[in-house]
Amino acid sequence: MKVAPSLLSCNFAVMGEEVARVDRAGADLIHLDVMDGHFVPNITIGPDIVAAVRPFSRLPFEVHLMISDPLRYIDAFAKAGADIITFHIEADSDIDATIEQIRRCHVRPGLVVKPGTPVESVFPYLDSLYMVLIMTVEPGFGGQSFMTDMMPKITLLKEECRRRGLDVLVEVDGGVSEKTIGQAAAAGADICVSGTCVFKANDMAAAIRLLQQSDQ
Ligand code: DX5
Ligand code: ZN
Repeated sequence: MKVAPSLLSCNFAVMGEEVARVDRAGADLIHLDVMDGHFVPNITIGPDIVAAVRPFSRLPFEVHLMISDPLRYIDAFAKAGADIITFHIEADSDIDATIEQIRRCHVRPGLVVKPGTPVESVFPYLDSLYMVLIMTVEPGFGGQSFMTDMMPKITLLKEECRRRGLDVLVEVDGGVSEKTIGQAAAAGADICVSGTCVFKANDMAAAIRLLQQSDQ
């Protein structure tokens, strides 16, 4: 299991240092939550902040766009140093055009589904995706409870990818901890996002290691 700590739970006053700290603690990727106060009821960071913290780690930056018009901002986040950009299938932008724009910027594209959205909705786009992100909380805030009833989505998605011979990564986001990670691992998730559990841990390296070892 790969672990992508979410900076949403870090100390925003020293965000660059936090990126370096989570890198030293053994993270596999860095997850950056972008919220516009419109698609979700919270506002976080924009491309300038992503660019400012980019030099603090060489790990892949995964930008999770929780914004209404992702297509409009792809170039800016690509320029800021995103390696992966994921956006919501529920957003307003044209999906094919957004995926294409991400690829044109030499960034890897992913689609995200909210808890209320069936996973089958991403099936028509699977051929052109690097990753699918399954939300296990309602997007907008860290520190919420993991929704166990999302696990069948992971199983279904994995089955569909296997059937079509596709190697699309499956990621879970929201409420992941040492208590809930086992279910996601058993269902077949490849990567987990974790904010609270990693940044509030007394021993960050141990917390990351525990999540990484969940599928062994
Ligand atoms: C929620 C964000 C998540 C969140 C996860 O909208 O997409 O990435 O930060 O935080 P925890 O692990 O605290 O649920
Ligand atoms: Zn996220």
